[in-house]
Amino acid sequence: MTAQLNPCGDVAVLVPAAGAGVRLGPGAPKALRPLAGESLLVHAVRRIAAAPSVRVIVVAAPPAETGAVRQLLAGVADVTVVPGGAHRQESVAAALRAVPAGPEIILVHDAARALAPTLLFESVGAAVRAGTDAVIPVLPVVDTIKEVSADEMVLGTVDRGTLRAVQTPQGFRRSVLAAAHAAAAGPLTDDAGLVEKHGVRVKCVPGSAYAMKITQPFDLALAEHLLATG
Ligand code: CTP
Ligand code: MG
Repeated sequence: MTAQLNPCGDVAVLVPAAGAGVRLGPGAPKALRPLAGESLLVHAVRRIAAAPSVRVIVVAAPPAETGAVRQLLAGVADVTVVPGGAHRQESVAAALRAVPAGPEIILVHDAARALAPTLLFESVGAAVRAGTDAVIPVLPVVDTIKEVSADEMVLGTVDRGTLRAVQTPQGFRRSVLAAAHAAAAGPLTDDAGLVEKHGVRVKCVPGSAYAMKITQPFDLALAEHLLATG
């Protein structure tokens, strides 16, 4: 059944899904690879569409797969699909251009984080609604972190107490994200990095282990296991 988005919601979610998935090994673009019988993108969009505050979803698809992605998502939720760009930042910018007037909160979410729970979209959106310009979900860093030289010699041990691992969905007041993208120079791997360069203060909220990024084959196997065990 196709999920109905909330016509009175104040959130638009941009889903960059145009990457190749090189680190997963040969195969289809990552967002279209199967996970427990459905593509990563379908898993991600279903969880987004279930969030009560979401009014608009825009997916940036691999350009050659735009039509196929539109078909794939037709039965999942009412989604706008646009061709993505050569870098993630370009894909986000393309999706941002497709957001209609209305939603004043924009969440940006990697299709590769296919199991990010619906509640995380609500908690990040709520933090923006409460008056914060930029919000990121984070987890504490659990490994000891070393700084190393080019020849892999340890230079020092970093205090991990002040470090956070950053996930998506990242949330922004719409005007803040639009201004940051309009002025963006080199491509960055996350949107909070863009707004930081504008001097915008970014607030951290608790992330979720389920919002892990599926990057390598091990991650895909772990996601399969999580879905199977529930
Ligand atoms: N992405 C995108 N457009 C690009 C590159 C990446 O929309 N030109 C998206 C990916 O589809 C993914 C998210 O950005 O949902 C995070 O990127 P990453 O995990 O690096 O995915 P890929 O780029 O597909 O993987 P790889 O780097 O291994 O090729
Ligand atoms: Mg990539």
